[in-house]
Order: sequence, then C-alpha cells, then structure tokens
Amino acid sequence: MDDPFDLSQVSAYSDWRARKLRAYPAEIADLRVPVGRLDQPTPGERAALKTRIETFNMALVAVDPAEIQTEALLSFTRALGLQRTDSNLFADASAVSHIAATRRNPGDAGRAGTAPEPPGGVNLREFIPYTDKPLSWHTDGYYNTEDEQVGAWCLFCVRAARDGGENGLIDHEMAYLRLRDESPRHIAALSHPQALSIPAHSLDGRTLRAESVGPVFSVRNGHLHMRYSARARHVLWRDTPATRAARGALDRLFSRPDVFTFRYRLRPGEGLVSNNVLHCRSGFDDDEDPAKARLLYRIRFLDRVALD
Ligand SMILES: [Fe+2]
Repeated sequence: MDDPFDLSQVSAYSDWRARKLRAYPAEIADLRVPVGRLDQPTPGERAALKTRIETFNMALVAVDPAEIQTEALLSFTRALGLQRTDSNLFADASAVSHIAATRRNPGDAGRAGTAPEPPGGVNLREFIPYTDKPLSWHTDGYYNTEDEQVGAWCLFCVRAARDGGENGLIDHEMAYLRLRDESPRHIAALSHPQALSIPAHSLDGRTLRAESVGPVFSVRNGHLHMRYSARARHVLWRDTPATRAARGALDRLFSRPDVFTFRYRLRPGEGLVSNNVLHCRSGFDDDEDPAKARLLYRIRFLDRVALD
C-alpha cells in the first residue's frame, strides 16, 4: 500500500510532496471560513472547512463573537467529528480550558468564567500558557501518554490582548517534508520510540502526570502525528548524534521561510481548528481589568478532524 511516510517508499513520498507543495505559498486568508451559527455549521461551511483542513491541517473560523459559548463550541467540534476530548488538569467539566493570564493577586479573577480551580498546590503561574509570556513552538499534549495523544485542538478568541498574543502556525506535515528533504535520517531519528521523553510531573510526592516517552513523528491510522516541544527545560532528548542533528535541523526550521509559517493574532469571534499543527504564541500586554483581559477557549481532542 502507498504510504508517503514510509522512508522506503520514495515515489509515494514524492507524489504526496508534490501535492502538498501545490497549495503553497499560502496566506492566512486562504484558511479563513466564515461560519453563521457555530452550533450548526451548514453543509457549505463544512465543505469549506474540510478543504482547508485537508490541505493545511488547519482552518481559521470566523463567527459573530456572541456565538462563542461553551455549548455551541462543543456542538461545532462534534460536527467536525471531534468526539473524544482530552481533559487536562485545568479544563472544566466539558473539557474547555479558559486560557487567560493568571493575575499576581489571587483575588483577581484572571481566569474569568467557569474554569475550575487547579488541583491543590498547583500554581497556574508556573504554566506558561497561563501567563502573558511567549510560548515556544510545540504541538499540544506532547506530555500525554502514547494512547492519549492529541489529534486535534481548537482555540477560539473571546477577547484579544491589548497588544501581542499572536500565534505562529506551521502545518506539521510541512515540517516533516522539509526535514525529510534535508535528510531522511532526521525522520528516522525523530521516529525512534524513545526520541523524546517528558519527565513525570510530581508535586509533594504525588504524580500528577506520568512520564511520557515516545517518537516525535509517528503514523496513526495513516495520518502523520507530531509530538514536539522546543522547550529546553523538562524535556529529555535521546542522546545520539543522529537525534542531535535532527533536533538542530528542527530548530532551524522555525526560521526558514519555506516552511510557510502563518502568523496571526486572533480577534474576538475568530478561532483556529487544527489537526494539532505546530504552533507558538508571542508574549502579550493585557488589560489590567480581568473582565477585559485576553481570554481564549481551547478544547483538545484525541480524534482528528473528520468531515465527510
Ligand atoms: Fe498549544
């Protein structure tokens, strides 16, 4: 069977590569799909989303800001075939995480809305997503276990920051393509089952999250999956010359124009849906008033987007 992600199948890869590159260069406007009712995307809107996601592994959804409610968001993602949510430490009962910078003053409700309190003793400010600091390149859930890898996520903007908070986005298939073109050995090294380890997260002798060991690139049900964090701390790379070379190539990728990085600052009413593409976030300057501060809703799924 043709498998472009099999290193021995040179012609399957070359066909896939040609198809992939045909869509580029592309702009953020090419990802944009206006949606009328978030809870009930029409067949036309679903078809437009399908094309974007099949081509780029992501789409930019634009709705009336008033549409962005937890229940409508969950109906929307269900319509995209996203059923199994990944609940993390900070998500509420419906697995929706409220991403906002945590205020210095604990009485200040920086995390507006219904987001739950984190487990006892966990300080949200130790987690960069919940600060106003830049967030380096990663895919979501890289610290999850092998069978709970994140296939897709959505990120919807309720309120933007006063300044900054821009996302960088790279289709992980494009990252794979450039690395494989540079050297198939990079792909082999990054596909090793012990390529990247994330140590367990323990607090006062309790394990909040077990150690996660796995490849960067893997193929799941015929689809390429990427598990990655550019963080220097709390990550452990396999210690071989081939892994170091592949890591170096990956690092360089983020400043290469030919991976076609999309850069975009979500406005209220806009959201990204993606098959867990590579992404980062710039730091931001927020409003002092928590009711006006940046607030995004995020849901992660174990499934990939499946639109028919
Ligand atoms: Fe993320």
